[in-house]
Amino acid sequence: MKRKLLGTLLSVTMAVSLLAGCGSSGDSAPAANNNAGGNDAAPANTEAAAEPAAPAESQAEAPATTADGGKIGISMPTQSLERWNRDGAYLNDQFKAAGYETILTYSDNKSEQQVNDIQNMLAENVDLLIVAAIDGEALNMVMNEAADANVPVIAYDRLIMNDAVSYYVSFDNYTVGKLQGEFIVENLDLENAGDSVYNLEITAGDPADNNAGYFYHGAMDVLNPYIESGTLNVVSGQTDFDTVATEQWNTDTALERAQNILSSYYADGTQLDVWLCSNDSTALGVAQAITSDYAGSNSVLITGQDGDEANLKNIVDGIQTMTVYKNVSNESVVTLSLAQAILSGETIDESLLSSFDIECAYDTESYETSAGNKCPSFLLVPNVITKDNLQDLVDTGLYTMGEDGYLSATN
Ligand code: GAL
Repeated sequence: MKRKLLGTLLSVTMAVSLLAGCGSSGDSAPAANNNAGGNDAAPANTEAAAEPAAPAESQAEAPATTADGGKIGISMPTQSLERWNRDGAYLNDQFKAAGYETILTYSDNKSEQQVNDIQNMLAENVDLLIVAAIDGEALNMVMNEAADANVPVIAYDRLIMNDAVSYYVSFDNYTVGKLQGEFIVENLDLENAGDSVYNLEITAGDPADNNAGYFYHGAMDVLNPYIESGTLNVVSGQTDFDTVATEQWNTDTALERAQNILSSYYADGTQLDVWLCSNDSTALGVAQAITSDYAGSNSVLITGQDGDEANLKNIVDGIQTMTVYKNVSNESVVTLSLAQAILSGETIDESLLSSFDIECAYDTESYETSAGNKCPSFLLVPNVITKDNLQDLVDTGLYTMGEDGYLSATN
């Protein structure tokens, strides 16, 4: 996957109408398919054949009283993956404190439910949508409905391949994977491996999630030279994205696949040295499989992402080795600033960065909502957490450390 260098900061002031953004930057440069999971980029504005709207069983928060800031629809994918509960809470709190009325929904990882939730928000005449897509391609029809209603859309954390999306707020997801790959190289000292061979297995994320491909490619672009040289050996032979992907980031799915690999390829005493996991929910399943089904006596290096509580406990206990932490409270602050600028019709460019004291890049090159349609993006910076710097999480004020040394999230 070709990826433009991050950090391209264009000083041009974009002529931005309320809906301008991804579909109107005017940049005609052809770009690589940036739907990084490897599947074809969704053609823009295709009409997905939506299922009949399922009865809304979402965890919707009752709309607050009308605020003078306007009404914001916040569509989160699920509550079954820990981080989204925080994203939803932080976003809701930020916008309410800023005087907005909010509608917050969680769609139980069901795309048809998310379509229904967003349609309900449009029916409630929201002024702006913030959407973390379950499956970006399944939202095409309702994104077109938002565009028809002149409702701007911020793609939150996960890019949606539809030109109705005005802006994208996330982390540098390729760098998330790169940090995981580099951690493996450094901690196994692969640069100085000589004739040593380290056995590696791989677990990637949900193929429906546009982020999953970026995490995978970010890590594999670092690790592939060591696989090609034979320093890293994937004993199962399972390396391509579709084979190592995990539907819905499901812990049990990751557990079952890891158990199958261990019983098929490591029961004869073969040593397993490292397991690349794209996030914490899948790392939890892999760690459970290794604990129950791996016969070796060595400690297996396991990567993750998100700083989920159970995984932080595993890091303290030496079962997981690292996680890539993304401060989603900061992500909500950046999203609020962007939403306020959009709704007040301000020109959106890198000057917005000065409205918050958060390390963030303004990027107009790396992401597209369809071929050639660049999506102006605000990308926050991820950080590596190990048992040696857990205090950094406590210092954010978003975690507390108990007397047992384990961390709990404050919200
Ligand atoms: C990704 C997100 C990650 C990961 C996964 C599961 O899109 O960026 O934080 O945890 O979803 O929620």
